[in-house]
Amino acid sequence: MIKKCLFPAAGYGTRFLPATKAMPKEVLPIVNKPLIQYGVEEAMNAGMKNIGIITGRGKRAIEDHFDISYELEHQISGTSKEGYLQSIRKIIEECTFSYTRQVQMKGLGHAILSGETLIGNEPFGVVFADDLCVGNGDGSVLAQMVRVYQKYRCSIVAIEEVPTDETHKYGVIAGSELEDGIFVISDMVEKPAPEDAPSNLAIIGRYILTPDIFEILRNTQPGKNDEVQITDALLTQATNNMVLAYKFKRRRFDCGSVDGFVAATNHFYDEYKNG
Ligand code: G1P
Repeated sequence: MIKKCLFPAAGYGTRFLPATKAMPKEVLPIVNKPLIQYGVEEAMNAGMKNIGIITGRGKRAIEDHFDISYELEHQISGTSKEGYLQSIRKIIEECTFSYTRQVQMKGLGHAILSGETLIGNEPFGVVFADDLCVGNGDGSVLAQMVRVYQKYRCSIVAIEEVPTDETHKYGVIAGSELEDGIFVISDMVEKPAPEDAPSNLAIIGRYILTPDIFEILRNTQPGKNDEVQITDALLTQATNNMVLAYKFKRRRFDCGSVDGFVAATNHFYDEYKNG
């Protein structure tokens, strides 16, 4: 039903310097798999096989990762090492990849607007690879959100409860509960101080957006940090129409922070060890 998924991946990854000096943060490995591959697998499992990636300068490794390496294929063909390429081969076989560059860093809303040419006039998913959600297949966060979309046909953001002293890291919503875990959004604030936060329900990096968001983004003025914020555009959409927040049932690691990255590494290392 939703075929396309957009991955904003133009950011500099400054929190991981010097590791991200010559390497995109999206290809930093969690055990033996680049961060962005987990996100693409989640999109694929939710039925979104047309992957659009918003890149920037110095991000060539992302394109190379989702492409066939003939030398490598040739070298390991018929050896016991072939199994290591299985997961990426499946992705390359099943998905298509399109890229566009965000030439100026004007915020997440601007990055998503840059993806308009890759999306066109249809609903689409958005994944921030930094937010690594555990659990794929039917139960992945994006797959859960597709089911909500099938019922309500409007934009949806994923939310989770965060400690009040962490609201300044997230977009935060206010809303009324429509059914268990699904809220109709009445307010959204980008990275509020605890005293200004309308709740402790924070947006995490999974969205389903209807394509009218592009026109709204075009008319959205820079907000927090003088950047065009997707949160502000979604508030306009919520005011004009309806936007839902979905409290997902999965574990999330904030791999944009060193602590979250290490926690995710430990989690996947346990899985790796136990086969
Ligand atoms: C972005 C969004 C924010 C959202 C967060 C989720 O912020 O602007 O609303 O809560 O992603 O990870 P960023 O983490 O890019 O600063």
